[in-house]
Amino acid sequence: MRTATRAAAILAAAAALFTGVHAVQKVSRAGRYLYTEDGNRFFIKGVAYQEQGDIAVDPNNRFLEPSSFIDPLADGDACTRDLPFLQQLGVNTIRVYSVNSSLNHDSCMSTFSGANIYTIIDLSLPVNGSIDRSSPSWAANLLDLYISTIDVFTKYDNVLAYNVGNEVVIAPNGTAAAAYVKAAARDTKAYLASKSSSALVGYAAIDGDSTWIDPLANYLSCDPSGGNSGNTAIDLFGLNNYEWCGDASASAYANKNAQFAGYNVPAYFSEFGCITSPPRLWTETQALFSEPMTDIWSGGLAFSYFPATSSQGQFGMITIGSDGSVQTSDDFDRLKTQYGQLSPPNSPSQSSAGSTNFPSCPQQNSSFLASTTLPPTPNFAACACLESTLSCQFTPQTPNVSTIVGPLLDQACGLLGQSGGTCNDISGNATSGQYGPVSACDPCKQELLLSLLIHRNQLMNVLVFPFLFILLATKLSFVMSQFFEANNRNPETCNFAGNATINQQAPSSVSAANSVASSCLSNPSATFTPSAPASTGSGSSNGNGGSGGSNNNNSGAVSDLFGNRQAWVGLGVGAVFSLMGGLITLV
Ligand SMILES: *[C@@H]1O[C@H](CO)[C@@H](O)[C@H](O)[C@H]1NC(C)=O
Ligand SMILES: *[C@@H]1O[C@H](CO)[C@@H](O)[C@H](O)[C@H]1NC(C)=O
Ligand SMILES: *[C@@H]1O[C@H](CO)[C@@H](O)[C@H](O)[C@H]1NC(C)=O
Ligand SMILES: *[C@@H]1O[C@H](CO)[C@@H](O)[C@H](O)[C@H]1NC(C)=O
Ligand SMILES: *[C@@H]1O[C@H](CO)[C@@H](O)[C@H](O)[C@H]1NC(C)=O
Ligand SMILES: *[C@@H]1O[C@H](CO)[C@@H](O)[C@H](O)[C@H]1NC(C)=O
Repeated sequence: MRTATRAAAILAAAAALFTGVHAVQKVSRAGRYLYTEDGNRFFIKGVAYQEQGDIAVDPNNRFLEPSSFIDPLADGDACTRDLPFLQQLGVNTIRVYSVNSSLNHDSCMSTFSGANIYTIIDLSLPVNGSIDRSSPSWAANLLDLYISTIDVFTKYDNVLAYNVGNEVVIAPNGTAAAAYVKAAARDTKAYLASKSSSALVGYAAIDGDSTWIDPLANYLSCDPSGGNSGNTAIDLFGLNNYEWCGDASASAYANKNAQFAGYNVPAYFSEFGCITSPPRLWTETQALFSEPMTDIWSGGLAFSYFPATSSQGQFGMITIGSDGSVQTSDDFDRLKTQYGQLSPPNSPSQSSAGSTNFPSCPQQNSSFLASTTLPPTPNFAACACLESTLSCQFTPQTPNVSTIVGPLLDQACGLLGQSGGTCNDISGNATSGQYGPVSACDPCKQELLLSLLIHRNQLMNVLVFPFLFILLATKLSFVMSQFFEANNRNPETCNFAGNATINQQAPSSVSAANSVASSCLSNPSATFTPSAPASTGSGSSNGNGGSGGSNNNNSGAVSDLFGNRQAWVGLGVGAVFSLMGGLITLV
């Protein structure tokens, strides 16, 4: 298409988005069910839609989790190519596991919206972009990532839900991590509300033994305060369920139905489609989309449209031929046939579904370890304020920063321990519900500083600015500084093989440093509505009313960082041309 025609087409699509010509109906929660605006019950009849990224074959990678991803909503041609096949399947929802907020999603989102296909978008990314089940935290870097994705997707009318995690908890001994997932749901929900978004907040769980899956599901949708408030509750519980294998019968689901019979929020199968007794007949869809299961579940997503290798074997319904065309398989045809035969009941009515109850939380026990005291809202401004005052700062000698942060942190904590200190301030314990004041700060994050600042200025049409990257590794710099202070600022103790530098602008005495640090972190356990982008230097992510907001006046944080740090990891010049409202980026 010629540029002018293309621009006109994009503008027309944008206009359609705004005037609501092709708008899909909003889906909302009533009681424990989903309804479209016209009052009809909504069932997720979907398919997982993401090409698999790279997979490291490694004994530690038990679930063959990918180390990279391909954003399926950033390739308009591929979405157009796949639409007829998704329509043949008769799906109304696709689930996407990772997206890149710096890419443009207008074409795919408008293609799918026009076909009444909703999206469920997982906010996490592979590797360091998700709550780490072996060392969980809910920190500024993740909140920032989630916010940037939400900012990019709120303008679309067909985002049904955002998942704050997928299979973070996989065993009873890891259930404490649910506290971080619940905090992520709380902050994501507050952020969506502040943007007037009605998208739902979900979590997708691996299936498991009822002794911990039940309390996990109940915990994520409970109110720790006992006041029937949904502020920390997910809206939508997804279960990745593969219990129905081959030509099973409805009894395959009997236990699961009993477990979820009294659940308070909508629940669905965020993945289904067992591959261990091939071929897949997809006859489970008949059970899932009819009574009695429709009283308990709101549908499900078949796994997976694209080929996907797993520890159990090969999934997938189509392949992309060498000429770029879609080739369907028998698996595709069988699902198409089964999905085509569904007629779920349109009951109960929305009015009889009532409002959602948020019961009190399950008791902690040996198979469910999460405390009802949740971690705080990550406070980017407080962390940046703290980092700028630290006496010994992480200044990496390699561009390959992420690989050295972990080992250096271990080393610094070990040394600090030998000097009589501890790393408690940077750690959290979600079983005891104790979270160190620095526990929600960045482990390691490269910030694009100026773009964050300029992003706020919606009135500018064309911006030309230098990209300035700065490295924030508050936790590591904090521990290095503790060690340095514990050794009376002996210069040899701020070195770490050349990866640390004494901050000459730090307060001159230990007590002055402590007092500045305390004022940066004046209310480390506050919860508040996060603001976007995570407010480098503006101080605008300070807590607000009600929950005892923090009290940082960080208007100087950016200049402090500029003044102090040698840790520039990149410098370049770029240009962004953006139209009003940031809907379209044409370069
Ligand atoms: C997102 O896309 C940009 C532009 O292609 C790329 O530079 C960046 O690495 C991507 N981010 C992730 C997390 O993959
Ligand atoms: C849970 O137990 C498994 C072994 O059964 C172990 O590999 C894993 O590290 C434990 N996880 C946690 C968080 O303790
Ligand atoms: C822990 O509590 C759950 C209910 O919340 C229960 O299903 C489970 O059996 C309990 N575990 C133990 C070891 O008692
Ligand atoms: C970064 O470090 C990892 C692990 O040490 C290594 O596999 C990778 O090749 C390194 N990348 C660069 C660009 O040096
Ligand atoms: C976390 O707290 C629990 C309960 O107080 C305790 O049993 C556990 O040892 C603590 N974990 C760590 C790593 O300190
Ligand atoms: C993940 O690590 C990369 C490389 O160090 C970094 O640029 C990025 O900001 C990190 N992402 C998150 C969410 O921490």
